[in-house]
Amino acid sequence: MSVIALVPAAGQGVRLGVGRPKAFVELGGRTLLEHAVAGLRASEVVDTVVVIVPDQLVVAAVRLVPDALVVAGGAERTDSVRLGLSAAGCADDDLVLVHDAARPLTPVAVITRVVAALRAGAVAVVPALPVTDTVKRVCDDTVTGTVDRGELRAVQTPQGFVARVLLDAYSKADGAATDDAGLVERAGGTVVTVPGDPRALKITTPFDLAVAEALTGGHA
Ligand code: C5P
Repeated sequence: MSVIALVPAAGQGVRLGVGRPKAFVELGGRTLLEHAVAGLRASEVVDTVVVIVPDQLVVAAVRLVPDALVVAGGAERTDSVRLGLSAAGCADDDLVLVHDAARPLTPVAVITRVVAALRAGAVAVVPALPVTDTVKRVCDDTVTGTVDRGELRAVQTPQGFVARVLLDAYSKADGAATDDAGLVERAGGTVVTVPGDPRALKITTPFDLAVAEALTGGHA
């Protein structure tokens, strides 16, 4: 049973607004992609890393992460993960982690918690944090309700799966999802949580990048 990590990095990063795909933006002298792969390697629980990048950056990615298999991604994140899964050629009982390149500072402990939960028998695992803001439902700028935040969690990556369960969810997927566990839920699978970590923040906007730079002191 191998542990295979897929790293979707094929987004264009439009919301970051730096004129190049987000995974190729630098943080403390290394690209987000390099950080994400280095974290997975540092966990010492991952056997194979597959990175999924924009078509035109396959050669650049091979240079940046020579120890990973590099494949071209698709239009939506779901397409990119699907392409990575098919390149990985997983056996049914392998463990698959899907870890966004956009979460470059994910602590090793989060990665090992996810794998430990899979090894303990879970079939799908997400790192999760309680939601601290009050969350409102809004329609046309008017509040229509307040959601009970006690039952809400913000989920991060890596999300971990027994390969058979993720492959089945992708074979049944109709349309895109913002995370992989969502597809497993739709297919009827049970997804459990382990504690996430605020440092596993997702870099989406220039503000997020500034926060990540502050966390690393510019020397990640
Ligand atoms: O856009 P968002 O930040 O939600 O993307 C999450 C991750 O999915 C990023 O690492 C991004 O590069 C990746 N992605 C992808 N293929 C796409 C869109 C996003 O691999 N078509």
